[in-house]
Amino acid sequence: MIKKGRILLLDDDELIISMLSRGLRKEGYETHLLHSSINAVEKIIAWQPDIMLLDINLGEELNGLDILKMLQDEHVKFPVVMLTGDDSSESAIRALRFGASDYLHKPFNVEEVKIVVDRLLNNVRLQDEIAYLKRSQLATMSQSFIGESIIIQHLLVDAEKIATAGVSSVLITGKSGTGKEVLARNIHYWRFSSHADFEKIPYIAINCTALPENLIEGELFGHVKGAFTDAKTDKKGVFELANGGTLLLDEIGDMRPELQGKLLRVLEERTVRRVGGKVDLPIDVTIIACTNRDLKALVENGTFREDLYYRLSSFSLDLPPLKDRAADVVLLTRYFLQRFAQKYSKKQVETIEKDAEKLLESYSWPGNVRELRNVIERCVVMEDMESLAVNCLPLDIGGRQSQTTERRKKFHILLPDEGISLEEVEKELLQLALERTGNNMTKAAGLLQISYDVLRYQAKKYNLV
Ligand SMILES: Nc1ncnc2c1ncn2[C@@H]1O[C@H](COP(=O)(O)OP(=O)(O)OP(=O)(O)O)[C@@H](O)[C@H]1O
Ligand SMILES: [Mg+2]
Repeated sequence: MIKKGRILLLDDDELIISMLSRGLRKEGYETHLLHSSINAVEKIIAWQPDIMLLDINLGEELNGLDILKMLQDEHVKFPVVMLTGDDSSESAIRALRFGASDYLHKPFNVEEVKIVVDRLLNNVRLQDEIAYLKRSQLATMSQSFIGESIIIQHLLVDAEKIATAGVSSVLITGKSGTGKEVLARNIHYWRFSSHADFEKIPYIAINCTALPENLIEGELFGHVKGAFTDAKTDKKGVFELANGGTLLLDEIGDMRPELQGKLLRVLEERTVRRVGGKVDLPIDVTIIACTNRDLKALVENGTFREDLYYRLSSFSLDLPPLKDRAADVVLLTRYFLQRFAQKYSKKQVETIEKDAEKLLESYSWPGNVRELRNVIERCVVMEDMESLAVNCLPLDIGGRQSQTTERRKKFHILLPDEGISLEEVEKELLQLALERTGNNMTKAAGLLQISYDVLRYQAKKYNLV
């Protein structure tokens, strides 16, 4: 059975402590008892409790407060609950000041202890979860914007200027997959990374199309209890949650006109009012709006408010399609090769062959960087490559990968009902062997278990070399 949590108890009163331990064990906790302060700190740290209950008066050289202090010096993270014998709350308050999480007066009953322990364990779990989410967010956050083409260099200089100036809103436009979200994260980073507690500064992203209409207003602005049927409690909206940090409003071009008006009000007044609320709450948020649509055209056809467009576009950054920054394609390819080799524990591919490089640079990339990322991810997973060659790349971008696969399939069909030309099969196999070995005739001959001379003769016969 999975235990509810590991609790360490330290008290010189053996009777009290074993009774308490029994009660907690019955409730599904794992307990460990210590009766003396001698070498206690080492033992406590070694057992790695989730929570500790510590008597203040140990009747020894060291009392509970000394132990607490020593644990603090060791930077332990688990909460410590002090057990106090006297009625005065003075010692308990001192313990809290020294970093204890709570205290319990003796005599206590198990129920009371359970309530305190459960609350603290829940806190620990939440803290762990938050720390984990922060870590994973930071991992994606630290993803830098790859690009050295002139057009991107200029754009990054502008973006950094905008970020460090601390403007209140930025618009990022660009076709799907051009890297708008990556740029938004970088803007957040440039804006706040010099702060000592950067990790604690919120970065919240919300997609304006992903939420159902009846929910989006509550998500954006929050609501008070009873504002509508499902509003059972007060709830903060993303503007409040992102306060002091960055709020990314993705797909802003799809926002309903009525909400556009409310957003404009927030941007102008720098306050939000929860749905059903009566007070305007001040907010200090860097708003980054992203869209892959042509906002100007939307303004012209009346689906996007002109005033909001002008408010948002005073600082705007337009990401060009990948085909207009061919100089970045190889750089991005190397970056993805490395990233996915790491992710899938594959061998690092250092070389990109010249013809593959040419192909990658001349392809039009309608899906932009996302498409390039997907192509490279597939290569890394599916091909055991020494170097990135044209025959690793898929047919639809001009590579030969799927032709080879097709041919492989055709070979496995074996003998069709209507029969097949043996010469055709022979030719296919020769071609396949030559392709796989990069036209190395010795290796190709080895694959087909024929001599070099036979292979050369056959290859010439079928015009393969
Ligand atoms: N310059 C870049 N450097 C590194 N990775 C990038 C870059 N540009 C895009 N990517 C990667 O390409 C993918 C798509 O990028 P992103 O999600 O930022 O695109 P987008 O412009 O927001 O697209 P959409 O409009 O479809 O939401 C992501 O996996 C991202 O990591
Ligand atoms: Mg996006």
